[in-house]
Amino acid sequence: MAVPFEHECFADNRAGNGEVARPYVRIAEQATRFGGNWTVEKLDILERYLDAYTTALKDRPFKLVYIDAFAGSGQVRLGNVGPDASALISGSAERAARINSKPFDRLYFVEMNSESCRDLESLKTRHRDRDIRIENSDANTFICGLQMDWKSWRGVIFLDPFATQVYWSTIERISQFKALDMWILFPTSAIARMLPTSRTPDDIHPGWATRLTQVYGDESWRRLYEPTRQLSLFGSQGHERESGVDGLVRIYREKLATTFGSRFMSMSRPLLISTGSRIFELLFCVGNRRGICPAKNIANHILNHF
Ligand SMILES: C[S@@+](CC[C@H](N)C(=O)[O-])C[C@H]1O[C@@H](n2cnc3c(N)ncnc32)[C@H](O)[C@@H]1O
Repeated sequence: MAVPFEHECFADNRAGNGEVARPYVRIAEQATRFGGNWTVEKLDILERYLDAYTTALKDRPFKLVYIDAFAGSGQVRLGNVGPDASALISGSAERAARINSKPFDRLYFVEMNSESCRDLESLKTRHRDRDIRIENSDANTFICGLQMDWKSWRGVIFLDPFATQVYWSTIERISQFKALDMWILFPTSAIARMLPTSRTPDDIHPGWATRLTQVYGDESWRRLYEPTRQLSLFGSQGHERESGVDGLVRIYREKLATTFGSRFMSMSRPLLISTGSRIFELLFCVGNRRGICPAKNIANHILNHF
């Protein structure tokens, strides 16, 4: 079953307090039209990793695959390069296609938007020497159905959603492949908006509660709320979650650490918008146990020297 876009799911829902709840829409608009420094940062980190990864595996007997699960169109428009100015830069798919120290043997570009898929087709024609496969599909469905001979393939998967589109079941599936190094953007800002600080967890909008459970894989997000010392005006017990986004990321990191074990890298990179708030957390996990040391060394080095 195709998973609908976030804004189709939630744009008309109400947060329970009369306020129209459209966090995804705002984040999506920010991400595409006004992608800022954090956009360049995530793409540069990814490109450096892909370059170092393919070089490191150059003489190994594996075929190399790159999976861009939220591929976009191949290019990203930045809106904050100057007054009234914008710039087009290469997106993740374009950057992966042009890796040439040891090119990927196969690249999957998964994208739900058909118009972006048409742009990806023209990217494909510009890189005829690459085995590029464009999948106009939902990323979760594609990954969960992916069958490859993981004895002979190794690779990198990039999960770059607008907001809360990555399901925990997809992360578990990637972990089971034991072959794909994973960079994922965890949507701190979108999730914080779904979890108001003063709210009883049971009062969270049911659509949001369902989505949070899909993202975290269980109801662990409810643990973020603790009973307040004071009763409300009506004598009922109030609840509060710690302010900020540390708690939201902490729970997700714990889940990754449990699922990937020592393949999970504790160092991560918060991506900040111009006001200083955290929009995403860029996290990394290694695919295969044998690659833990080199992969973490490369990823750590890139994050430390960026
Ligand atoms: C943040 S953008 C990706 C940007 C891209 N990585 C780049 O660097 O150019 C997210 C993309 O995911 C697509 N998308 C949204 N939901 C999706 C889903 N469930 N499965 C696949 N693609 C999806 C959107 O159409 C959008 O192009």
